[in-house]
Amino acid sequence: MAESNPQNWRAADAYLADILVGHDPTLDATLAAQRAAGLPEIEVAPVSGKLLNLLVRISGARRVLEIGTLGGYSTIWLARAVGPDGAVVTVEAEAANAAVARRNLDAAGVGDRVEIRIGRGAEVLPSLDGTAPFDLVFIDADKESNTIYLDWAARLGRKGTVIVLDNIGREGEIANEGTTDPRVIGTREGLRMLGEDARFDATALQTVGLKGWDGVAIAVVV
Ligand code: DHB
Ligand code: MG
Repeated sequence: MAESNPQNWRAADAYLADILVGHDPTLDATLAAQRAAGLPEIEVAPVSGKLLNLLVRISGARRVLEIGTLGGYSTIWLARAVGPDGAVVTVEAEAANAAVARRNLDAAGVGDRVEIRIGRGAEVLPSLDGTAPFDLVFIDADKESNTIYLDWAARLGRKGTVIVLDNIGREGEIANEGTTDPRVIGTREGLRMLGEDARFDATALQTVGLKGWDGVAIAVVV
């Protein structure tokens, strides 16, 4: 039995992506454009992009909110899943990232169903109040603001809205009560909110793979 280590986590992830996700020139071009623009390589792994896509389809979501667009890689997975009559609103703090995302979304043929709102979530999300409820919310932005984003996800959702919170593993640091890393503190606060706030019912799965030791929380608004 092979030892568990980052090298074989990555190899297994590549194997799973090969047989279950496949390779798609559009998404390859999106990643190439993100790299060329100097964006950090922190977009979701292909298997996780496919997970988002499946969760949208399994839940029948037609209106999706994404917090943290980066270059649009995960946005494309979400936009494909909602279909031509669905809608994705994605919030991005950095205008330069949003410009990369806009080009990628248009090149992927899903630009017409995606609205990018530029600004920090805490400022942009209140402006979405009063629009039709979102069916699924993917939170993948600054971890320090996770509780703000979860609160807005509940307010902008409805009973049954699916919430996916990225990066809950943090190399196991989430179990470290004494952490001083603000991103880990934000992750822990988000998880605590999912556990304690009566609006949510949630679980979380640790993952190992392309992105190391990480994980994802999945919740429903009750
Ligand atoms: C970081 C953020 C992410 O959304 C991610 O998927 C991985 C890492 C980060 O800020 O370190
Ligand atoms: Mg992430």
